[in-house]
Amino acid sequence: MLIHSPLNKQLRQTADAPDQTSQHASQHSEFSAEMNGVIPWHYPQVKTPIHRLYELAKAGQWNANTDIPWERDSAAAHFPSSDEGNPLLGFPDYDRLPEAERRRLSWWQHRLEIAELLHGEQAAMLIASQLVSCLPTVEAKLFASTQVADEARHVEFFSRYLHELGGEIPPPSNALMNLIHECVDEPRWDMKFISCQILIESLAMARFQELRQNTRVPVLRFAIDYILRDEARHVRFGVEFLREHLATLDEAALEERSRFVLDNVLRLANSLNIYNRIGLAKGWDLAELRRHLRRYRLQHPELNRQRFRQLTLNMDAVGLLTTAGRTRLERMNLLS
Ligand SMILES: [Fe+2]
Ligand SMILES: [Fe+2]
Repeated sequence: MLIHSPLNKQLRQTADAPDQTSQHASQHSEFSAEMNGVIPWHYPQVKTPIHRLYELAKAGQWNANTDIPWERDSAAAHFPSSDEGNPLLGFPDYDRLPEAERRRLSWWQHRLEIAELLHGEQAAMLIASQLVSCLPTVEAKLFASTQVADEARHVEFFSRYLHELGGEIPPPSNALMNLIHECVDEPRWDMKFISCQILIESLAMARFQELRQNTRVPVLRFAIDYILRDEARHVRFGVEFLREHLATLDEAALEERSRFVLDNVLRLANSLNIYNRIGLAKGWDLAELRRHLRRYRLQHPELNRQRFRQLTLNMDAVGLLTTAGRTRLERMNLLS
């Protein structure tokens, strides 16, 4: 169903943006997950930090349909984000485009970025639902159940937002799709937990903060404030719960988990999928575009460091930043 609103009317210009990949993309992907979990028969009444987070979650529920000012006028005549952090700037084929075309492209780029967030939110909802089943304590299961509802709201918000922009919702990038499948298919509860609460949540937090800072779309800025509050609780839950559990593991097991997170960080940091899609649609020289993006990353090391700062802090807080892991992050120039 198409939703009619000022946002929809004003942002329709993005609907006809070229997106060659979505024409052939599959509408879904399948999984078959095995899970190792626990059903505890013990219901402690002790008030722990996780219990307090559960109380905060119950009090902090909001409604993506009625609490968001969907009717608020958007700045559609402008670019969706400020130029800060746009890696296409300085790429000659991009710079020489007329302003109207750059604006159209920016809205398309925006749609691709928001679609990645939407697919990430759906993954978080899915994994959180698996965590309700397999986490080892009742208290953790209760909190995870609130996280399922939180992530459902985030899916609801971003999917409605994209529908109002118009056009098809682009499929996830390969890097994100692989990460989602790896997390969903992983049978061990703690690996699943680390993927969701440390890796996905920390990266999402950083991305939301960046978006909050750069966006020129009022409704997005408004919703991100709500979403960030939810995500902060999820990250806190991950850190509280994992710190104790990881302290019980031996060095080899810890190293395996640290390596798992960093392998995925490396893949995501090098992911060029969004810009590849744009370059492909525009007929740009992709090798030249990749060189430009690499140069841009080297010239702006703070952007990636900012993006991964929350993650490294959280890895450190739970004991996942091993000596080998730290060395690897330094080599990747991702340590602040
Ligand atoms: Fe979320
Ligand atoms: Fe979350």
